[in-house]
Amino acid sequence: MCSKEIVKITLPNCSLDEQTILTYKGRVREIHSHILQQNSTGWIDFPIQNNESLLDSINYIASEIKACADVLVVIGVGGSFLGARAIQEALTPYFGLAKGGIEVVYVGLNMSGAYIKEVLAYLDSKQVYVNVISKSGGTMEPALAFRVMRLYMEERYGDKAKERIIVTTDAEKGILKGIADKAGYRQFVIPDDIGGRYSVLTAVGLLPVAVAGVDIIELMDGARHAATELAQSDLAFNDAYQYAVMRHILHEQGYSVELLASFEPGLSKFHEWWKQLFGESEGKDRKGLYPSTVSFSTDLHAIGQYIQDGRRIMFETLLHFHEIEGDMAVPYDARDEDGLNYLTNRTFNEINAISKQGTALAHAEGDVPVIQIELPKLDAYHLGYLIYFFMKACAMSACLLEVNPFDQPGVEAYKQKMLELLKVEKVVKE
Ligand code: PA5
Repeated sequence: MCSKEIVKITLPNCSLDEQTILTYKGRVREIHSHILQQNSTGWIDFPIQNNESLLDSINYIASEIKACADVLVVIGVGGSFLGARAIQEALTPYFGLAKGGIEVVYVGLNMSGAYIKEVLAYLDSKQVYVNVISKSGGTMEPALAFRVMRLYMEERYGDKAKERIIVTTDAEKGILKGIADKAGYRQFVIPDDIGGRYSVLTAVGLLPVAVAGVDIIELMDGARHAATELAQSDLAFNDAYQYAVMRHILHEQGYSVELLASFEPGLSKFHEWWKQLFGESEGKDRKGLYPSTVSFSTDLHAIGQYIQDGRRIMFETLLHFHEIEGDMAVPYDARDEDGLNYLTNRTFNEINAISKQGTALAHAEGDVPVIQIELPKLDAYHLGYLIYFFMKACAMSACLLEVNPFDQPGVEAYKQKMLELLKVEKVVKE
């Protein structure tokens, strides 16, 4: 198979060979055409469309927010916040703010009274903008949080509150759309043919991360590169489809859990985004790999024991970015009481990379197959590429399982049951 400029996939200790993978060539080609005929596939071409005016208006509003606020409160759940939080955490400093960015706080991702109460108290000494994001416009978690935040903003800013609330929702339908139109809030549209967990590269993810200081032009350039390169229907030339086939074969061989692993803590929220993408797209009809994640080396001292020695149900997908901004050398200490002076010619990132190699070798001995996905650098461009790569792989992978990648009946079931219970409670109280 051909090796590509951006993503390199290797199989360090995995019995899969090229010939077995390529037996899926015909099926992949058929599914490729089938996917293109589906609704909900607007995300496929979105990065290669002319989005200049959208990116300009997002950057324009982001500049206004950064100039007039200390904090942007993003309200959303599931696909309406996971992608933004993933990008923000991967590309902004661990402590403090990115250059040219302000703080972004997420609410409406849970229904904890303690959480929202604390957020309100935290905001009191700060200037605030709100970006409420909901495709359906009626999901309980963000709807409740928006009720609270809207009243809070009106109390603090009076008539000016409406200038500080930005709504990202459907172009035509939904309760949120009605509220936004009536109040005259500024709005960004979530395209009708792009579902929640495939929407991170639209205004859903782009406005929050632009405010956090991420270069969204770079991010979308990377995504565009991926959209062009991964448009191939030929399995031999499409890395995303190869990854989809690899995980599918391993699943067929009896592995039931895929562990996304990386050695960079800034990627742990990216793991969460990936988990939702695959979990919600594939976990249907009693099928699907269970997507789980580990952040190494931290988790090697926790769940690492199970991976190495527990039930043989999992394989690992190891994400590796060769270049990470920020590093330091191990300092020399003349006392050498800890016996670590032999490492003083090494940097932490070098040692981390060696720990990755050591883990792969140990997992080979422990019979854990590894799919390694390598990218040159952890930056906006390559993250944009990788996000698109996983979305493309996910659609193919779900179709190989013969489930619909774009619906989420299980989530709807929970929403329905909760509403029924809330209504029964109301009747009982009355
Ligand atoms: O991927 C999905 O479709 C879901 O995770 C949704 O994003 C989530 O349920 C939130 O829905 P909404 O944006 O309609 O509030």
